[in-house]
Formats: sequence, structure tokens, C-alpha cells
Amino acid sequence: MKLLFINGVNLNMTGMREKGVYGSQTLDEINAEIAAHFKDDICEFFQSNIEGEICEQIHNAANEGFDGIVLNAGAYTHYSIAIRDAIAAVKTPVVEVHMSNVHAREEFRHTSVLSVVCKGVILGFGKNSYILAGESFKL
Ligand code: DQA
Repeated sequence: MKLLFINGVNLNMTGMREKGVYGSQTLDEINAEIAAHFKDDICEFFQSNIEGEICEQIHNAANEGFDGIVLNAGAYTHYSIAIRDAIAAVKTPVVEVHMSNVHAREEFRHTSVLSVVCKGVILGFGKNSYILAGESFKL
């Protein structure tokens, strides 16, 4: 399987910001664990704080033969119609993930404009949310 893990805005600060919510491991450390878990698969990792770059990665994934995209769009989840439309524009299935249980947090995090165009949503399992989402493409 060829899997693309996309992290959006502020996820580069993982391990440094709000450690009680997102843990103390950096995104590079988490990605290394994901790559080790999927050692028999091809994994690529992309992070950007820029909405348009995330859209372009989603567009390109379709041409690069990815079987699935695991997407933690960060706060863009809650309002980015551009990312929503990018997901809707491609055939590559996307699973939305969140490390935290957004439904147990502030009300503005309860809304996702992405879920409706995603294959599914996994949230609340910390770094394992990414692994569970990646595994879902194999079912
Ligand atoms: C997050 C949840 C979002 O509400 C937040 O803006 C993030 C991270 C998560 O992984 O739990 O940046 O997507």
C-alpha cells in the first residue's frame, strides 16, 4: 500500500505545544513510529501550515498512485472549505484524523467541514489515530 500522511496547521508544533493534549513526542518522532508500523508499505509524510499547499498535496496524491490519505488538517478541519473541496475533487480516499477527542473539547472543535467528504473519521487515540486510520485502508 502507498499511504500519504498529511498534517496541517500547527501540527509541526507537536511535542512543544499543549503537551497535555497532544503528548510530548515531536511530529518527526510520531512519523518515525508510523513508518515503522507500516514497514511493509510505502509511507510519505507532508506537513504544512499553508492551506493551499495542503490542497495541492491532496490533488497530487491522486496522480502519484497513493491508495489512501490520512489527514489531520488541525484547525483547518473546522472551517476550510478549500480543503473540503480538494478532498471532493479527487478519487483517492481520505480518512480524517485527530489526536485528541475533539468532541470532548471546545464546541468550535465539534464541527468538521471535512468529514462529509472523507471515507471515515478516527479521533481521540493520540498518535495511534494515524496508525488506525492507515490500517483502515487495508480492511
Ligand atoms: C487536532 C484538533 C484540532 O481541533 C486542533 O486545531 C489541532 C489538532 C487534533 O489532532 O486533535 O490542531 O486536529
